Amino acid sequence: MTAASNSDVLQRYPKAVVIGAGVIGASWTALFLAHGLEVVVNDPRPDVEGIVHDYIKGSLRTLEALGLPTDNLTRKLRFEANLETAVEGAPLVQENGPERIEFKQELWARISRVVGADALLLSSSSAKPATEQARDMAHPERLLVGHPFNPPHLIPLVEVVPGEKTDPAAVDDAVAFYLALGKVPRVLRKEMNGFVANRLQRAIFRECCYLVIEGVVTVDELDDVVTSSVGLRWAADGPFRSFHLGGGAGGFEAFFKQFGAGLDNAWKNMAPVSLDEAAQRKIIAQADASFAATPMEQLEAERDDKQLAIIRALKALKTK
Ligand SMILES: NC(=O)c1ccc[n+]([C@@H]2O[C@H](COP(=O)([O-])OP(=O)(O)OC[C@H]3O[C@@H](n4cnc5c(N)ncnc54)[C@H](O)[C@@H]3O)[C@@H](O)[C@H]2O)c1
Repeated sequence: MTAASNSDVLQRYPKAVVIGAGVIGASWTALFLAHGLEVVVNDPRPDVEGIVHDYIKGSLRTLEALGLPTDNLTRKLRFEANLETAVEGAPLVQENGPERIEFKQELWARISRVVGADALLLSSSSAKPATEQARDMAHPERLLVGHPFNPPHLIPLVEVVPGEKTDPAAVDDAVAFYLALGKVPRVLRKEMNGFVANRLQRAIFRECCYLVIEGVVTVDELDDVVTSSVGLRWAADGPFRSFHLGGGAGGFEAFFKQFGAGLDNAWKNMAPVSLDEAAQRKIIAQADASFAATPMEQLEAERDDKQLAIIRALKALKTK
């Protein structure tokens, strides 16, 4: 998609309403503002304005590194505590409130009574499918999940997950919107608990915890193993392409011939893992003795720098 068509897409959404401005909502707010959208934040926290302004200040370096304008970013930022007033006439809503299904169902039912039929309604939910969220809506056609990875102003992926009643045109609109923001939207072909990326994290993190609980490695050693092997490999190529290469000249055919039965057997015989109090304490103690002593802001800045370096390096390769 060209820069011109990106701005055409964004012109359809001169105003975005961000519902809930915690970890995820504040980050979307920063990104939307950097793309020139007017942003109306709806969040009942009495200290919400300070929190969002501080978050935006903290994200400027990363937004700049992404090549986005950051001058006077908050001039188009407004706060509106009344939900109906905030969303009235809005072309787009990105919801980031508490991860409780009753909250989301009531919220969307109220919103759908106020917004126009063309408004694009997006939920950042990590696990609540649009079908369930839309239960009490008179018009669920424009609601779908747009699930980002934290922080959304930096991480490219957005999982776009339509509900049973979502209009395919709304899916196209959501994909176009996220593409115009520089994201990598991927549409899921069916709703599934945990969507895709978090299911992967969950499965891999299970094994990470198991190896630390069993005393095979410490949390630091496990992190080193991941960043120097699978993390690097999968940032470059993803698991399927990587294992195709793992099969050598014979590709997947050869890979499965050599490792398929072993994998199948290992999957059927996975040791149970208990993340009980003692296991949690062991992991926390090791983290406390290492990286957890570093201030969170510093860890976040280092994380952003490293992830930006990878994103830029891969982008440079693609444009060669
Ligand atoms: N934290 C993550 O890594 C992450 C990643 C992707 C998606 N998500 C999803 O994003 C959503 C928000 O998660 P978070 O981590 O930002 O939570 P959070 O607790 O940091 O933020 C939630 C915000 O919602 C506000 N809120 C509470 N009641 C409200 C109401 N009635 N109206 C409007 N706002 C209200 C709170 O004041 C708070 O600021 C959840 O659905 C979560 O599943 C989280």
